[in-house]
Amino acid sequence: MVNVQIDGVWMQFPKGTRMIEACRQAKKDVPHYCYHPKLTSPGNCRMCLVEMGMPARTAPGQDPQLDENGRSPIQWIPRPAIACANTVADGMGIRTDSTLTRTCRQGVMEFLLINHPLDCPICDQAGECSLQEFSVEHGTGTSRFQERKVKKPKNQQIGPRITLDDERCIMCSRCIRFSKEIADDDCLGFVDRGSHTVLTTHPDKELANNYSLNTVDICPVGALTSTDFRFKMRVWFLKETKSICTGCGRGCNVEISSRESKVHRQTPRENNDVNSCWMCDEGRLDVHYVNSDARLTDPMVKVGVAHRPVAWQEAIATTAGRLKSLSGDDIAIIGSGRMTNEELFMLKRLANALGTDLVDIVPRTGAADNYLVSADKNPNTTGAKLILGITPGDKLDGIRNGVKNGSIKGLLVFGENLMKAGFERADFTQLNIFAASHILANPTAEAAHVVFAGSASMEKRGSMINRTGRLQRLNKAIEPPGNALDEWEILRDLTLAIGGG
Ligand code: SF4
Ligand code: FES
Repeated sequence: MVNVQIDGVWMQFPKGTRMIEACRQAKKDVPHYCYHPKLTSPGNCRMCLVEMGMPARTAPGQDPQLDENGRSPIQWIPRPAIACANTVADGMGIRTDSTLTRTCRQGVMEFLLINHPLDCPICDQAGECSLQEFSVEHGTGTSRFQERKVKKPKNQQIGPRITLDDERCIMCSRCIRFSKEIADDDCLGFVDRGSHTVLTTHPDKELANNYSLNTVDICPVGALTSTDFRFKMRVWFLKETKSICTGCGRGCNVEISSRESKVHRQTPRENNDVNSCWMCDEGRLDVHYVNSDARLTDPMVKVGVAHRPVAWQEAIATTAGRLKSLSGDDIAIIGSGRMTNEELFMLKRLANALGTDLVDIVPRTGAADNYLVSADKNPNTTGAKLILGITPGDKLDGIRNGVKNGSIKGLLVFGENLMKAGFERADFTQLNIFAASHILANPTAEAAHVVFAGSASMEKRGSMINRTGRLQRLNKAIEPPGNALDEWEILRDLTLAIGGG
């Protein structure tokens, strides 16, 4: 540990701590653009300039002069130092709010704003832009620049999901370093010189990797924007809910941004034990199904060949009534690795009440990468294994055969489209009762006698266990549409109707 004085207060920090991090720990905010704690520090924006001092050197033959605390007085260096790329040293002094640092910040802001367009009213970053914030906190509020601003390319699609406005770029190089150091896709760079420098992609490449949208998160200005989200909603209208992504077994920590009953975006939330500060584009953009026109909003019962919406009591009573006439071995339940632990617990209770062991989930696998994306596409396989006591997929063939040959007469399905798990529509003809809970209309729901309208992951609370065994919380960002219910409520009502208590 080394002793460092920050704005007059002595504190201890581990050797090697960057000055900017020491200041942050001391609750002294140092404005910065190019610095990002997860990336290398090129020190190119100069916004983090602070005043620095070191212990006074003792002249040869003289005794060291110590202050009343027994420390060497600090000799302040008459030029500023960047806090992001320098580390603390024993006896060091840092001033984050001196006349020198304030003047430096004003100077850097004036330089940055010389060529930056003042298009905040139509910029998608407005409301979460560091340039806007630091202009208020550290700018002069006036400009001495009389000349014309430099013109640069605008509204360029530099990848399938990213739009670049070069005039807004302040050349912090965060996006370049992220692509190279984290996404392992060295496709961005600066070309040309001085005021004419522009960010661009390599001539033969696009910013198309599965982590490209993280550059939008770390771009401190509105230069890089998400093609999916831009111009959809002003960020100050959004409500943020902390939750987890349910796209795969990683369970990246996220913030869901919604307004009223609509989810507008999902961004990563820092958790160094799970996803650092990042998430994949695929998971991030997997939010729009929640607003789909194909959402089921009411429970339905099939009359003849068509479904008709009914009250929950009727859907539950119809299902329970027909299940009660069957014995345990005649009934199978297919749950889902997308269900929460709480729902899986209720599923187990329902299986016990019905007296069946024929319970399974549908394993779902896909391509993994060597960073965050897991090959297990179910977010809660671990929870299903622990709570249901199953090996996922082990009983599926038996259930499929039983349904086909008529030995299984009752089938309950939660959140799985069985047509994607090897079932065919003709398989279901021998069933006395086939009830399925879904959030979107699909061929399985269409074939079922009773359809329950369930809730999407962003519409419910609960917990899941990721593939490394980490228990994480899922939170409700919006209300489910219409009369849709959480699956645990459907399972509770079914268990009660069957007499399971
Ligand atoms: Fe920095 Fe954004 Fe410019 Fe990239 S586009 S260099 S992140 S300001
Ligand atoms: Fe230190 Fe950019 S944050 S130079």
